[in-house]
Amino acid sequence: MSISLKINGRIQLVDADADTPLLWVIRDTLKLVGTKFGCGMAQCGACTVHLDGAAIRSCMIPVAAVAGKDITTIEGLSEREENSLQRAWIEEDVVQCGYCQSGQIMSAAALLAENPNPSDEAIDNAMSGNICRCGTYPRIRKAIRRAAAYAEDASL
Ligand code: FES
Ligand code: FES
Repeated sequence: MSISLKINGRIQLVDADADTPLLWVIRDTLKLVGTKFGCGMAQCGACTVHLDGAAIRSCMIPVAAVAGKDITTIEGLSEREENSLQRAWIEEDVVQCGYCQSGQIMSAAALLAENPNPSDEAIDNAMSGNICRCGTYPRIRKAIRRAAAYAEDASL
């Protein structure tokens, strides 16, 4: 069936079975390969994207369920966030192998949109569903705090 998706601000018509996971459409049909496949069971966070601003696991949500909703992938976030989260990620040298990192950044972006100055506990809670096999968690926390500080400085 033909499904209308709004991805990164653009309407795209895709041909897919209604129950195809959104992740497959993002990666295989639309070739937005920044979003990763990890577990396929909503357990690792590698496939995290935003749905109407909230962080969701795209591996478990059928594409028909998100028709017409606002979907943002890491590629869409890159256009808007290069001055805060991405800068902080680079300056804290967060990335090791990199596989989990687009999911980490998408969860961090959803957190900061909702809570611009999160406590360590709020960071840990928001990021608890994003697994990093390389153990970059301390640097992720530092980068989120740094990005929050950039945003606060920019608002002064
Ligand atoms: S691939 Fe979706 S949560 Fe792991
Ligand atoms: S940086 Fe390697 S899995 Fe997170």
